[in-house]
Amino acid sequence: MTERASEPQNLSFTDLHPSMGDSRTEILAGLSAENKTVNPKWFYDERGSELFDAITRLPEYYPTRTEKQILSDNATAIGQRCTEDCILLEPGSGSSEKVRLLLEAVKPAAYVPLDISADFLRSAATELATEYPWLSIDAICADFSNDWSFAEKLPAGKRIVFYPGSTIGNLEPDAASAFLSQLREVVGDGGGAIIGVDLHKSTDVLNAAYNDSAGVTAAFNLNLLHRLNTIMDAAFDPSQFRHEAFYNEQARRVEMHLVSTVKQSVRVNGTHVDFEQGETLHTENSYKYTIDDFADLAAGAGLMPEQTWTDEDQLFSVHYLATT
Ligand code: SAH
Ligand code: AVI
Repeated sequence: MTERASEPQNLSFTDLHPSMGDSRTEILAGLSAENKTVNPKWFYDERGSELFDAITRLPEYYPTRTEKQILSDNATAIGQRCTEDCILLEPGSGSSEKVRLLLEAVKPAAYVPLDISADFLRSAATELATEYPWLSIDAICADFSNDWSFAEKLPAGKRIVFYPGSTIGNLEPDAASAFLSQLREVVGDGGGAIIGVDLHKSTDVLNAAYNDSAGVTAAFNLNLLHRLNTIMDAAFDPSQFRHEAFYNEQARRVEMHLVSTVKQSVRVNGTHVDFEQGETLHTENSYKYTIDDFADLAAGAGLMPEQTWTDEDQLFSVHYLATT
């Protein structure tokens, strides 16, 4: 653990440098595939995290305000499900805003925010540690789609995973199932998980949520190209791509793409990637579930559904799942 002089006493920060290693090979393989794709985890550099934060405040983006309302309306009930003095681990913690709604009810012995976006994580954790001096915070910058060996170093105690925001929806169903199994393993026996899941709904509501009138989601999507330029020593020109997002009803997912507006050849990592005019780079899927489908997925991974909370319009759901 590295501690900086300016960090509050109740905060430790571990950086496992998740953008290093084999990432370049993986990204290049996605860009070279017949249907070009990039893993959405690469959205989140500091600017990407700030843009996501701005998305959460958009009038069209209902998930954040709806989930926050569900959490604050049911904080006591959620707290009763959790073991006091538990270790509360939040993969993809972002601004750590939602956990504030649970801290008084859950009273964890330690909170472990985990995120791929190092600088954003550091400032979010510092702010939280200052605001909650009684709370011990062990922030970890890591890629949760890779190696969970850091979990061995978590503080001792019953574990509860908090995974809000429907970040689970950004994983393909098979990967979501594998991820939930991984969470089950990390939690061990006698713990639990609080998972926020966006629900299947009308196409119009979903299309609006990912095509906001202020263009923030478009900026978030296009920022990925700046990120690729940095990681991949690439020369993407964002002005030669446009944002596209739509609900694919059959697959029950919102798809985000970057569409090349011209035929072009882009330098990437010492080679070139060719785009036809109109060809897309698929940047994100955001799967929408029914409550029953998600409960089945979780149960299949050994996380047993105990209670589900939703809003009156059934836009979003929060699940408490137990490990036995
Ligand atoms: N939990 C917050 C933020 C959700 S946005 C909320 O509910 O509002 C998704 C978060 O997951 C981002 O902060 C992003 O940086 C992080 N993230 C995405 N993929 C990740 C990965 N593979 N490993 C670690 N963090 C990841
Ligand atoms: C983080 N994740 C759940 C968001 C979502 O809705 O899929 C990311 C996002 N993409 C576009 N808008 C928000």
